[in-house]
Amino acid sequence: MSEPLIRPATQADIGALVALEASFPEEDRFDRRTWRRLLSAHASILVCDTPRDGLLAAAVMLYRKSAGIARLYSLTVAPEARGKGLARALLAACEADATERGAHAVRLEVRASNSSATRLYEAADYRVIATLESYYPDGEAALRMEKSLERAL
Ligand SMILES: CC(C)(COP(=O)(O)OP(=O)(O)OC[C@H]1O[C@@H](n2cnc3c(N)ncnc32)[C@H](O)[C@@H]1OP(=O)(O)O)[C@@H](O)C(=O)NCCC(=O)NCCS
Repeated sequence: MSEPLIRPATQADIGALVALEASFPEEDRFDRRTWRRLLSAHASILVCDTPRDGLLAAAVMLYRKSAGIARLYSLTVAPEARGKGLARALLAACEADATERGAHAVRLEVRASNSSATRLYEAADYRVIATLESYYPDGEAALRMEKSLERAL
């Protein structure tokens, strides 16, 4: 894998963003219209791009105007690029983006069965703050996790 660069997504990335989620069940994917809407909303889309392999990972952060809590809405690494630290790097870039926008914490929901994602978040100091029963359309529970961005004095 060539050296990845983390940068904000643009309209030109929409095709690659749709392709990144191609292996997901249909109900878990964003279509082109959703990606376009996210690009123009109170959101940041950060992508991990490589000169040779193209777009390998993406993360979406949502920001409500007055909320100090940013929401990690989506995080995906291409199957062939997993296990190489891309999610960890993208998550750190999302946290830096949230800090820059004045957020004091990041919150997310993850499927209770998604052990690779929950381990990623735990290793990055996210803690479970609630279990949301029947959160997903298929009835699975979500873990709500949160990380404070404020450094201890
Ligand atoms: C979850 C996901 C984003 C991880 O991406 P990744 O680039 O492979 O993760 P990284 O290589 O950055 O791993 C960082 C840490 O996460 C944890 N982790 C990642 N994949 C793991 C796995 N398969 N099993 C156990 N722990 C895992 C580990 O703690 C790892 O640190 P380590 O390598 O020092 O052990 C990726 O598997 C993915 O896109 N999955 C499908 C979409 C998804 O589930 N997104 C999250 C929805 S909330």
